Amino acid sequence: MSGIDRAREILAAADRVSVLTGAGISAESGIPTFRGAGGLWRNFRPEELATPEAFARDPELVWEWYVWRRGRIGEAQPNAGHRAIAELERRAPVFTLITQNVDGLHDRAGSRNIRKVHGDIWISRCSRCAYQRRDTATVFTGVPVCPECSAPLRPGVVWFGESLPRAVWDDAERAVHGSQVLLIAGTSAQVYPAAGLIDLARSAGSSTIEVNLDGTAYSGAVTVSLRGLCGELLPQIVA
Ligand code: OAD
Repeated sequence: MSGIDRAREILAAADRVSVLTGAGISAESGIPTFRGAGGLWRNFRPEELATPEAFARDPELVWEWYVWRRGRIGEAQPNAGHRAIAELERRAPVFTLITQNVDGLHDRAGSRNIRKVHGDIWISRCSRCAYQRRDTATVFTGVPVCPECSAPLRPGVVWFGESLPRAVWDDAERAVHGSQVLLIAGTSAQVYPAAGLIDLARSAGSSTIEVNLDGTAYSGAVTVSLRGLCGELLPQIVA
């Protein structure tokens, strides 16, 4: 049996499905990944753009970068990989999508039960109080200020050195622990704690299916490892 057939069979037989996605699923929509060829971290230094210290030092630079990314994302459309995951949700009685992506393309493809463990680039939130709002600005006009407490607003994403949003992470762990299968798509699985969900699935005895252009540290450990494009393989294994 081919890997694709095996993955299809595992997914078709499961009532409780979780999916973990990363930047690779949005690559075919034209949004750059972080690592590997053309990855953002090849051209930008995370410590200058994606840490609380960077924001404290130079909020203009950090905002400029996030607004530039919003512009790229705003021009992009969900692809066949996003749509296949939305289709999987419609079929599985119990389904949770856990994404490390902040781009919102899963929502636009029709996914509903999503846990965004690294936040949402379309949210701006106060760096001091609990204020937050949806923010679709894609042109940088200066650092936005909180209407309630006048502190600078910040992008609603998780930066290096920060904790993941507690309730979102708890839901993600609970979903993976309670699923019969974890489908892992387009993530290098190098960033923790998100990548630890793969270990959690394995230790809970769940099947694990990986879809990635390249091998990862988990390729030898998962039940089925498929090499190729999310936009090609995901529709095949959901069909
Ligand atoms: P990475 O850029 O680390 O990994 C993207 C993965 O997708 C790689 O393993 C590629 O081989 C694979 N890939 C690329 N294009 C693909 C395609 N069309 N089909 C299938 N696979 C493809 O992205 P993430 O794993 O999401 O965090 O990175 C995790 C976190 O690191 C991000 O959420 C971000 C980043 O720093 C924060 O900013 C907190």
